[in-house]
Amino acid sequence: MKRKTVFKGLRIPDDRRIQDLWIAPWASATVTAAIETGIMEILAKLAATPQALAKANQLHEESVVSVLRILVAMGFAKQLGQKFHLTADAQAYLVPSSTLSRLEELSGHFKTKEHKFMVRKLKETIPQYTTFGALWKDQPQGNAFVQSAARGMDSIIKAPAIAVIRTGAFKGVEHVLDVGGGSGAFAVALTEQQPKTRVTVLDLPAMCEQARQIVESRSSHNINFHPADFFRDPWAEGCDAVFFSNVLHDWPEEQVQQLLDTSYDVLVDRGRRRGRIYILEVLRQRNRNGPLMATLFHMHMQMGFGGAQYTRSDFARILSKSGFGPPRVLAKFGYYSLLMASKK
Ligand SMILES: C[S@@+](CC[C@H](N)C(=O)[O-])C[C@H]1O[C@@H](n2cnc3c(N)ncnc32)[C@H](O)[C@@H]1O
Repeated sequence: MKRKTVFKGLRIPDDRRIQDLWIAPWASATVTAAIETGIMEILAKLAATPQALAKANQLHEESVVSVLRILVAMGFAKQLGQKFHLTADAQAYLVPSSTLSRLEELSGHFKTKEHKFMVRKLKETIPQYTTFGALWKDQPQGNAFVQSAARGMDSIIKAPAIAVIRTGAFKGVEHVLDVGGGSGAFAVALTEQQPKTRVTVLDLPAMCEQARQIVESRSSHNINFHPADFFRDPWAEGCDAVFFSNVLHDWPEEQVQQLLDTSYDVLVDRGRRRGRIYILEVLRQRNRNGPLMATLFHMHMQMGFGGAQYTRSDFARILSKSGFGPPRVLAKFGYYSLLMASKK
């Protein structure tokens, strides 16, 4: 019998303009939040370190760093060593005390929810983080949030997942554990492309239930579910690959290390081929000041969850501590990179 497919054969154009559109409100919110919290006014007078800015205006240092890096990526600031300073256009137009200030033009931008969120987070000297999944973690039954979360994640990750799978990056893998697998989009895309490969989706019980419904409406061949809390419960065993997409960025480095340590422990080798870990994320460049979309995404993760858009070298360091070899970039799509490392 011919199996139903939903993603196979679809044209997958570059989605960077869509990602830019999605994140755009946060770019103007960064500028207005930097004005409102006094960052621009200080930087108009002197180049300053994030520590000095945070201390002078009683702001959270890490959030100040996130804002400064976005300003650099937007072309409104430059970094010299540890210090940041404004570019000529920012000095002239984005500083309240400047004769050429354009703040009136931007007045509507000071009222948005994005602006308010960023100002609140910058002023939170003791940061209040939430965790991605907190809304459905202890409430598996009839949870209203889980459906829209699953749809949102599905919308973001389908195209990158399909595109990186098509490069053949998962060829030869027999059984993938998709940790924090969300809507199950990756599982459907991989099993359509490689019908002999099995995928187990590990997620919180409420999300697994949601994913099961989405997957069954598509094509559920060779896909099964493992409802669990990935920090506390045992993971499914017997997998020769683990996959994380948009999961590690939700967590501070300590928790990322814990997830990679557990990955190392559960992964099995197949003959001479060592167990593999795959990471699909938007990476920031080495100096952390770009690309703009990645600096904005990072700000979101840092301010909201205490997480980060890690760089490739961050992952190399964390992976190595868990016993993995150096990661290779196996594929790229839009702003996403697919890293792969094998157990040493
Ligand atoms: C940002 S989403 C990414 C989902 C999917 N990998 C994707 O790329 O669309 C993070 C996922 O991690 C799951 N998650 C959060 N905390 C978890 C936990 N403690 N144990 C298992 N899954 C968890 C969430 O339910 C969510 O599905």
